[in-house]
Formats: sequence, structure tokens, C-alpha cells
Amino acid sequence: MQPVETLSLEEIDLSEDGFWERPREEREGVFTKLRRENPIPFFNEVAFGPLEAGPGYYVLTKMKDVLFASKHPEIFGSAEGATGIVDLPPEFLEFFGGMINMDDPRHAHQRKLVSAAFTPGMLKRVEDQVQEVAAKVVDDIAAKGSCDFVTEVAARLPLQIICEMMGVPEDKWDFVFERSNVILGAGDPEYVGELEPDELIGALLIAGAELVALMEEMVAERRERPTDDLTTALITPDADGEVLSQADLNSFFVLLLVAGNETTRNAISHGLYQLTLHPEQRQALVEDFDGLSRGAVEEIVRWASPVIFMRRTLHADHVLSGFELKKGEKVLLFYASANRDEDVFEDPYTFDITRTPNNHVGFGGPGPHFCLGANLARREITVMFRELFKRLPDTPSVSLTT
Ligand code: HEM
Repeated sequence: MQPVETLSLEEIDLSEDGFWERPREEREGVFTKLRRENPIPFFNEVAFGPLEAGPGYYVLTKMKDVLFASKHPEIFGSAEGATGIVDLPPEFLEFFGGMINMDDPRHAHQRKLVSAAFTPGMLKRVEDQVQEVAAKVVDDIAAKGSCDFVTEVAARLPLQIICEMMGVPEDKWDFVFERSNVILGAGDPEYVGELEPDELIGALLIAGAELVALMEEMVAERRERPTDDLTTALITPDADGEVLSQADLNSFFVLLLVAGNETTRNAISHGLYQLTLHPEQRQALVEDFDGLSRGAVEEIVRWASPVIFMRRTLHADHVLSGFELKKGEKVLLFYASANRDEDVFEDPYTFDITRTPNNHVGFGGPGPHFCLGANLARREITVMFRELFKRLPDTPSVSLTT
């Protein structure tokens, strides 16, 4: 795939209705042009139902600027208004105010408590689960001949892993899947139906509240009967005797579902699609999985860039690569554009599982918010493809249907 430049600088508007429905080549052409001619453009915001249009946002399209903003949270904050374009209304904070939307000292405190729960023993247990779940997912599709890869394979593994990690009872997995799809698929009629924006906001709040109610049930039960799952670890005081509040536990649960689910699903789906378009690379991977899988996973994450952007808000005036940014202004760190930056990647539009170096920012830039689940996601993608290629070496191949 090569970018096609169809729009002039004046015509480019990322907020415009329909921009994101343009063919991928054209969208990539827009970012190629921006990186070259106007690397930190400004766009107006649009109103979303009852939510009024905000003041607009800048977009960081170059890798060096995304790296700088990631490394300087004292200038580029995550808490004010949160990390989406629209400021998060206060009623959302109860469910969606997890640590991804916090600054220090709150963020550091919560990240320390959560990281303490990700012990080597816990991660080993999760590794075994990844293997088991991936094998089962492949078993279930092996006899079928064809299936919808996204729903039956790519979506199942990450969801089941998070549910197993947290100790969600198996009869609640479908419930968790549906509710998290409402949150993640907001705006996608396949998941939420044709809703008006204010109905959509209501649906999001209900889904958040239902997931939180489930977490509260699980926490109450673990207090009675502790197990070896992550929920139990999270309610156990750490070495300093500190523990997360119920509100923090709730928003962390929703964050895990939101952050760890659709991202890994999209990476696995894009991965299989690219490997189908490049049969010689797929064959090489089948023949030397151990030698090539590490690089393949990084290239899949770079290529897919499942998190397109995250927002920061300026804590102070700052001049970034000659662009004057003012305190309070919104800035989007466009990982999807940085991951195609011609100054960093040779032939950025070529999918190449042997690419070295491959310093992508698919999991975010280096800094306090770097993806907590990066190693888990890498493991999930690796094991999923290992199982697929071991059991079904000639298939699967994919065709795109909408
Ligand atoms: C391919 C899969 C994944 C991708 C591309 C991805 C990407 C990202 C990115 C870009 C961020 C940075 C956000 C920021 O700087 O504002 C992030 C943060 C985070 N991710 Fe992931 N992620 C993936 C999988 C996972 C998984 C499997 C989990 C856990 C089960 C997870 C949990 C988190 C959490 C908790 C944060 C917030 C960390 C913080 O604010 O300190 N992610 N992820």
C-alpha cells in the first residue's frame, strides 16, 4: 500500500464528517503531506450531541514530537479533560476515570499499586492461560472450514484472558464482551445500533455502570474467599500497606477491558490480513516461527497502530519544534502517523516482519503511561499465531468482507 495525496493542505480536516471513511491510501496521503508540510496542524472540534464543541486541537504527526510529549508529562498532561478529543463529562469519571486519565502524583501511586499485582507468578499463570485459550480458540474453528476471524478468533483471546486474569466467572464472559463492545464500538452500529449521540452517551454510561457492578460483586466475593487471581491481588495491601479504593478498582477494571481488548483484537486481525497479502512472509514465519515471531509481532503492532492517538493537555506554554502551544490547549499524539514517519522508518508503507530497528510507538511513547499490558499483548499475538500456523499451516487466509 502506498499513500495517495488527493487533498491540498487547506482541504485537510480530520474533524470533517467522512474523513475517516476515505480509502486508507488517501488518509495515509494526508498524513504524509502533513508530516512534510505542516507537522503540527490545528483542527476545529465539532459538537457531539449534548456535548458542545471544544476549542479545537493540535495534532503531532512526527515521531520526534510524539516522543517529546510522551516523555514530558509535566508539560503534556493526561488528567485535564482526559485523553479523548472531547472533555470527559464528570458523570463519566466514575467508570472511565482510570489511570490512563491521571497525572502524578495520583497516576504514579496507582500505577505502583497495580504493577505490584502483576507479579512474576501472576504473569506465569497468565502465560499458561494464553496458551490454553489460544489452543481452544483454534480447536473451535479448525473443523469449520471458514469463520469470521475477527469475532471467532481475534476478539475471543484478549477478552477471555482479561476475564481469566481478573477471575470473571465464565458465565459472565458474554456479558462482559457485549458491554465492553458497547464502550469500544460507540458509534459503530454493529455494536450499538443506530443511536443518536445523546442515546449513545446513555448506552455508554449504562454499560460502564453494569461492568462496575460486576467488579463490585467480584471484589465482595474475594474479600470473603481470596483466590490467586488479579482481583484478589489488587485488594491485597502492597509492601507499604497501601491498597486501591473501590472506586479505583472499578475504573481499573473498565480500563483493562477498554485498553486490552479491542487493541489486541485489531492487532491480530491486521496481522493475519497482512500475512495473507504477503504469503512469502507468512511462509517464512511458518518455517522459522521462533526466529521471526518477535520481529513479526512488533511489525504487526507498528502496522496496525491499534491506538490511533491519545490526547494531552498543555500544563504550560511550550514551543514544540517551532510551534507555539499555549497552556490549556489540546494536543493529539498521533501514534498512527509517527509509526509511518519517513525520518524514522525506511519504506514505512512496506509491511516487513524482518524490519530492524523497529522503534514504533504502537504501545505509546516512553513515559509514565507506556502500555501496562505491552508484554501481555505481545505474548497473546505470538501464541495466537503460533497456534494458528502450527495447527493450520496452509490456512488461514483471509478475504475482507464488510
Ligand atoms: C496490541 C495491543 C495494545 C496496544 C496497541 C496498546 C496501546 C496502548 C497505548 C498507546 C497506551 C498509552 C496511552 C497513553 O500514553 O495515554 C496504552 C496504555 C495502557 N494499556 Fe495498552 N495496548 C495494548 C494492549 C493492552 C493490554 C493487553 C492491556 C492489559 C490487559 C493494556 C493495558 C493498558 C493500560 C492499563 C494502560 C494505561 C497505562 C497508564 O496510563 O499508566 N494494554 N496502551
